[in-house]
Amino acid sequence: MKIKEAVFLVSNTDWQKCPAPDRPEYAFIGRSNVGKSSLINSLVRRKDLAKTSQTPGKTQLINHFSVDNSWYLVDLPGYGYAKLSKSEREKFEPMIFGYLENRPNLICTFVLVDIRHDPMSIDLEFMTQLTEAGVPFYLVFTKADKLSKSQVEPKVKKYRDGFLQFFSEMPKYFVTSSVDGVGRDEIAEAIGELNAD
Ligand code: GTP
Ligand code: MG
Repeated sequence: MKIKEAVFLVSNTDWQKCPAPDRPEYAFIGRSNVGKSSLINSLVRRKDLAKTSQTPGKTQLINHFSVDNSWYLVDLPGYGYAKLSKSEREKFEPMIFGYLENRPNLICTFVLVDIRHDPMSIDLEFMTQLTEAGVPFYLVFTKADKLSKSQVEPKVKKYRDGFLQFFSEMPKYFVTSSVDGVGRDEIAEAIGELNAD
């Protein structure tokens, strides 16, 4: 699927105020700073559509983008940023889970993990919560440009081995880099297939 146009629609703190759930929707989630907003920009080929920052905790709201007037992309705040105060974290987590558990048109979520890291308990716990809530997810390895080509496959295999200690099967996954655009066509293709279902 080729993406032609993406526009920012609205930011919310509360899933109940999000746009009418009249089209398929896909959300990008993961730890703070993992590259969610950057990957959205890479996918839609816009530099600054979603706001990014070197400092974790940049995205603080549920951000809706309309793509080709026919589906929504959603950029969410990250979880697990240790430097946020307890009260700030307690604000984000219900916001994220309220959205994920209740949004009726949410077809699939993309859980982003940094390809350089082994499975982290915070991500595994998050994916366990998604499974329990019945929210489908695909896995996205980000920042692949930080590894050499020959390091990518062994790293993914190691992640899969760790992941399979907690889950019965590996979800569909994507290796991506927002710096060089690796993986964006595959993600667009997967969304196109889900839209067609
Ligand atoms: P929060 O909104 O704070 O949760 O972060 P986020 O997950 O949206 O991350 P964001 O896209 O803001 O990127 C965080 C930092 O990682 C920025 O400095 C980006 O430039 C950098 N970054 C994101 N994706 C990539 C990538 O594929 N490769 C490299 N090298 N850097 C990346
Ligand atoms: Mg962000």
